[in-house]
Order: sequence, then structure tokens, then C-alpha cells
Amino acid sequence: MVVAQEPNATDAGVAVLKAGGNAVDAAVAVAFALSVTHPFAGNIGGGGFLLARFADGRTAFIDFRETAPAGASHDMYLDASGKPTRDSLVGWRAAGVPGTVRGLELAHKKFGRKPWAELVQPAVDFAANGFELSYSTAKSICASTKLLNQFPESKRIFLKAGGCPETGEKLIQPELAETLRRIAGEGAKDFYEGETARRLAVAMAANGGLITLEDLKSYRAVERQPLEGKYKNYGIITAPPPSSGGVAMLEMMALLEGTGYEKAGAGSASTTHYLAEAMRRAYADRAEFLGDPDFVHVPVKGLLNPRYIAGLRSTIDVKRATPSDVIGHGDATVFETNETTHFNVIDAEGNAVSLTYTLNGGYGNGVTVPGLGFLLNNEMDDFAAKPGTPNLFGLIQGEANAIMPHKRPLSSMTPTIVTRDGKLFMVVGAPGGGRIINGVMQVILNVLDFGMDVQQAVDQPRLHHQWKPDKISLERGFSPDTVALLRGMGHEVDPEGGGVASVEALLVDGGWIQGAQNGRSTGKAAGY
Ligand code: GLY
Repeated sequence: MVVAQEPNATDAGVAVLKAGGNAVDAAVAVAFALSVTHPFAGNIGGGGFLLARFADGRTAFIDFRETAPAGASHDMYLDASGKPTRDSLVGWRAAGVPGTVRGLELAHKKFGRKPWAELVQPAVDFAANGFELSYSTAKSICASTKLLNQFPESKRIFLKAGGCPETGEKLIQPELAETLRRIAGEGAKDFYEGETARRLAVAMAANGGLITLEDLKSYRAVERQPLEGKYKNYGIITAPPPSSGGVAMLEMMALLEGTGYEKAGAGSASTTHYLAEAMRRAYADRAEFLGDPDFVHVPVKGLLNPRYIAGLRSTIDVKRATPSDVIGHGDATVFETNETTHFNVIDAEGNAVSLTYTLNGGYGNGVTVPGLGFLLNNEMDDFAAKPGTPNLFGLIQGEANAIMPHKRPLSSMTPTIVTRDGKLFMVVGAPGGGRIINGVMQVILNVLDFGMDVQQAVDQPRLHHQWKPDKISLERGFSPDTVALLRGMGHEVDPEGGGVASVEALLVDGGWIQGAQNGRSTGKAAGY
């Protein structure tokens, strides 16, 4: 079964499974297909994380997060008065060195079964022959008109005469088809050393961007140990740094475990209060401690140490909100931590893949590389351009996530796999920027603590708290009574707080796989 945010990509993955491909093969096909059919976030110009668990219990995590180019520097996005500029968000200088093609190739080389070219082919076909724009893709292109209009190639491809595309219109991307054909034939070598690399480097130099041919040549996807923890009698396998997601989620789960918070019921004021208090504490630690583990020491063990957790838990008042200003981050070191897309695959043998990848903002930095047809990321904004000030998602981050050449920016992407009694149970993840971590955790808890089926768990309204700003953002669906009770406890509450991550999930139960697509956006779960 496959669940992804765009139906054509789901179908491409199911076709690979039907033809005898394994979960990794299907994931490669879905990721390439999304780079064509879901230009909002699917990509070859960005990066992400792939988490796999195989039927024999082995796990793998491939980090293909973008890196800062060699020419990047600590203060590169500050103006003369020390204020952050918008250069980390829009235009050529916002791009980190893309990792997607290398990451998918590494996954395929290590774990794939089908020929590489066969897995890229559906994407080539979608790009060359076109596909019909769904309502949501047409709408999202339209909503990004201001960004895409600034760059001639993006304007030509996505906006035609400068106007919005219609639902049902065919989007044909011949330049992207050519790029994908070269990748199908030559593999990642084309993207990092071949014609695509050379043309990207020339375009960068001509437009004031930083990525050079040497940056592309030296980019490596990295295999890391997935982060593993426990919640009650479930195993949680999730993303290690440079994602903050796995560490923060395990920290929050550890804060909740044993409190009995779930007794008040899903969506109640008391449960929401507990969740928010766990969130504010974990996000305060995230801001201080998390960064690229190849550059800074991230005290993962300290943040998850039972004594550290117990100390932090004791600061939660069951009846009153703790103001974020009095929290700060803990001292974990003494103990020795929206726009993205996610999909899950489980094959017939029980191998599972949870993959989140991204351009960061929707349509990335807005730049489509002339002649190559793909959009570039604005992942440099996931660094702390000025430690202590908020980024695109309003997240405050510390010196651990400051810019350095070749460093990976901190991420919130949280691809996760849950096991029960040592067997595959859930495969889950989400887009949604800094809200991903809270969204993924709540869907897991809705199943584990509140007994929901997987679709109910995904549909249930979610909350978000990220330490600062000090407020609970609620999706629609919480009762006015709950909001009033939370306010009475001293929380600032925004009942129209927007979506909290578009979580996609698969759940294995009694030999059946249940798929849940996030009803807040488009997508499709399908099996065979
Ligand atoms: N760009 C969003 C994230 O990596 O968290």
C-alpha cells in the first residue's frame, strides 16, 4: 500500500509494487513522480530523509538533507544594520546544495531490486506527456503567483501568460522530462557531475547564487542510525539529527508517559493542556540544542535521559499554563535532541518506507533553473540566520544551528515507524514545517492512547505549541467550551490557528493494512 499527497504519484508507487518491486523501489518511483506532479514540495532540487524498516527487523535512515554551499557564512543573510534579509527565502542565494537525487540513488543501491531507470520512467512520462492539475495544485500555484512571477522560467512554466492555471489544465514540463531522462540513464552522476550539474552551476554563477560545481560534486547523502525509543509497549523508530523531529517527539512522549494525561479523553481541555505543556518544553530545548550532529554536539541522550525528563515533568502544573518566558531550555548537557511532502509505503513482504522531503517553502525559492525544469529549495532559511530570531515558521533557533559551509540546516521532518511486539504497526509522517513534530506525535497518540482507527487518528483536530510565541494554535473542531477552559488555565489560545501538519499514515493490523490520507489536503492511499 502507498499513501502520498498526490494521486498520480501514489499510483506510480502501487504499479512498482505490483510489478514485484519492494518498498524502497516504490519509494524511489513515488519521490521522482512527486517531483513532477507535486511541484509545491516534491522535488529533485531539495532534500529530505528516508526511514526504512525491513521485514526482518533491520532499519535504515538515509539523510539527504541539503548542505550549505562552501561560500556560505554565518552572517550571510544579515544587512548592514544586522537585520535578517529575505535572501534566505527567495531567489538563487536561498538554495542549499540539493540532496534528493543522491539520497534516492543511495537507497536504491543499498536496498532496491528493480532497475533504476524503470523507477524514474513514470516521472519522465508525467513530465513529457503532462498530467491534469488537481484543484489543490492549481490553487497552490495561484497562491504562489507573487513568488513564481519573479523568475522568468517559473512564470513561463507554471503561470503561462502570468495568470493562474485552471483545475484540469494539463501541465507539460519538457525541460524537466529531459533532466529526468538523463538521471534515468546516468544516475545521480548527471545531477552532481554531468550536464545537469554544469548547467546548474553556470546558472547559479550568472544569478548571484552560491552553489558551484565543486559543491555539487562533493555532496554526499549519509546513512545514519535511526533514533529508537519506546512509548508504553510500542517501539518508536524515527529521525535522528539533523532532524529535530525524532528527538523532540520522543522527549514529549517521555514527558507524557505515566502521567495518565489521556484519561481526560482526546480533545479535552486537560489533555490539550498537557500536550501543550510537553510541546513548549521540548520546543524550548529544540531551540537551544539541536543542529547538524556533524558540526555540533547534540545531547540526544541527555534530552531523553529519564532523570532529565522527570525533572522537566515536575515543572508541569496540571492546572495552570507555565509562561514560556520562565521556561527557557533545560540543561540537558549534564545528562548526556508546511511545506514539505511525505509518503509511506508497505510492500507485500512487510518492508516499510516513511519518506519526507522538501523544498522548504512551497515552490522553494521560486527559481526554476532555466533549461533544466526543476525548482530550487530555500532550505538555507532552516538555519538560524540570526540565532535567537524566528525563521519562516516562526521558530527560534540557537547557535547550534548557525550557518557554516557544508553544514546541514536543522529540520523538523519526522518520518516515523511504530512497532508493536516487535512487529510493524504504523508508518507515519507529514509535511508542515515546525508543526510536523507535533502533528506526527498526536496521530500516533490518537491510536496508542485513545484507541482510534488510523483514519480517525488523522482526522482528529490537532494543536500546536512551539514554546515561542507563547500560544496554543488549534485546528478547527475544538469546542468553545475547551477553548474557554484552556484560557481559564492561563493559556493564550488561537482557535483559528491553521492546519497542524498534513499527516499520512499506514497501520498494520491482523494482516490488513489500513491507509489514512490527510483529509485537510489532497492525496490518495491505495493498495493492491
Ligand atoms: N524545511 C522544513 C524542515 O525541514 O523542517
